[in-house]
Amino acid sequence: MHEHDVIVVGAGGAGLRAAIAAQEAGADVAIVSKLHPVRSHTGAAEGGINAALRDADSWQDHAYDTMKGSDYLGDAPAVEALCQESPEEVIQLEHWGMPFSREEDGRVSQRPFGGLSFPRTTYAGAETGHQMLHTMYEQVVKRGVTVYDEWHVMDLAVTDEDDPADRTCHGVVAYDIQSGEVSGFRADNGVILATGGMGQVFDHTTNAVANTGDGVAMAYRAGVPMEDMEFIQFHPTTLPSTGVLISEGVRGEGGILYNENGERFMFEHGYANNDGELASRDVVSRAELTEVNEGRGIEDEYVHLDMRHLGEERILDRLENILHLAEDFEGADGLTEPMPVKPGQHYAMGGIETNEHGETVIGGLYAAGECACASVHGANRLGGNALPELIVFGKRAGRHAAGEDMGEAKVTTGKDGEWEPADYEFGVEVGETGGRGPAAADGGAVATDPEGVLGAAVERAKDRVDALLSRKGRNHAEIRSKVQQTMTANVNVFREEERLEETLGDLREAREAYKDVAVSDPSRTFNTDLIHTMETRNILDIAEALTMGALAREEFRGAHWRKEHQERKDENWLKHTLVSWNDGEPDLWYKPAIIEGENKTYEPKSRSY
Ligand code: FUM
Repeated sequence: MHEHDVIVVGAGGAGLRAAIAAQEAGADVAIVSKLHPVRSHTGAAEGGINAALRDADSWQDHAYDTMKGSDYLGDAPAVEALCQESPEEVIQLEHWGMPFSREEDGRVSQRPFGGLSFPRTTYAGAETGHQMLHTMYEQVVKRGVTVYDEWHVMDLAVTDEDDPADRTCHGVVAYDIQSGEVSGFRADNGVILATGGMGQVFDHTTNAVANTGDGVAMAYRAGVPMEDMEFIQFHPTTLPSTGVLISEGVRGEGGILYNENGERFMFEHGYANNDGELASRDVVSRAELTEVNEGRGIEDEYVHLDMRHLGEERILDRLENILHLAEDFEGADGLTEPMPVKPGQHYAMGGIETNEHGETVIGGLYAAGECACASVHGANRLGGNALPELIVFGKRAGRHAAGEDMGEAKVTTGKDGEWEPADYEFGVEVGETGGRGPAAADGGAVATDPEGVLGAAVERAKDRVDALLSRKGRNHAEIRSKVQQTMTANVNVFREEERLEETLGDLREAREAYKDVAVSDPSRTFNTDLIHTMETRNILDIAEALTMGALAREEFRGAHWRKEHQERKDENWLKHTLVSWNDGEPDLWYKPAIIEGENKTYEPKSRSY
């Protein structure tokens, strides 16, 4: 067994920032990650970090843009914390040596991004995440933070009281990918989940293969609500054949979208008469797919993104990485031809419910970054708001877990405060399928002392690995692929009741099939079949909760478009969706969104760009 004050799970932007903050606050910190830190998916973030750095800009304007972008489902205290603290975090990165792109006068450059009223996106070419990751990893190494890399965290070690609010997290159980050893990691102060996105729930995604929502699913199994899972961002510019991201920075620099007829459709077809290509992502993705659905797409599938007019010098200076990605993954030369692009899954606005300090409803358990829902993005995230989220809320969670007094949170967690049960009948049974042991989600450990809780969790994990390796059964790949296909076909940019129900049925079948899953490779050394089998369980749990939320939310808000419900319905739906795992069943409930900020209320307005 390993023991530290703070255990951070995941080594992307949020995990590294949390570890640095906890170490600075005096804690003995360790990072446990299934990847080496610099292979984390933060490294694929291209465009930039929103921060109100200039005199003519303000955090208040950034907060206004973010609340509007969220379609008024962001919680104002968290949004304001993000916008107030992002500038100091960017300056901190600069002091740590992050090589930002710069103006002639030496100032850090900023460019326009979608949905922003000021060009406030700082960047390092089109490889901002890569530079950020390496800058923070250097700090982690310098500070001597222990890193257990290539350890796949399987589960949390959490007590088993009836009410999740009474439970405590004492650590995690992880599987050493190199040796096959299962071991407990005891956290004396707290565990911070920073496991990133869950793009592998879909089959056309900008996310890495490793982004399987592990942290979200293990928190859910332990009793933490998943919040606003139905809000998935489909980025408007991904390469059709692979899902590789072509940064919004291209449009920020002046790139133009055209349909098959050569029309600049964002303006010519009236999707966003003011901001055109720089409307927020939900708007641009719907516009592109409408063009395709109405017969103006290219090869019935995609549109063109043209940056040729920017000129070679500017492209090489600010977007060089894009040239390589388009060439390597699509065979398109962005200097001489337009690039084919279509919407692809990019980001989860929802995730593990936290307050603005990163605390979850379970004592000693925190979450930060994409796996968490603080909630700063509401129904739609603005481009350039993910990286500041990682560093602001990573830092906050790290400090709190290390024992700093950060005052009382304004955002509540769990059923502490106003909440209401959902009144929705699903046509398909959801949750546990019974039979051969827990198919996907299951509960916490039956013990109360930290050693006992961790020991029980380790034993369960060992049994699970042994069973998967020794029994005969189905391979996970077929199940995973079916989940990804049904999610991509039916829980995409445009959603309708019948197809969402169909997906819930498909997921039920997948859950049933997963009961018989087994691993054909018996090895304990770098057994990727085993790791992927464990990840598929996480994908299943997440896909179901996401689809439930999408079915039950009978309105059109942000990225959640519903054929039968073509309006935002503030009277009934200015509220967050929560799904909690409760004795083998998902429990759906709601709590109000907080639109009251420090000095103003962000009254919902009609949203146009
Ligand atoms: O388009 C991009 O460069 C992505 C940025 C983001 O998701 O914030």
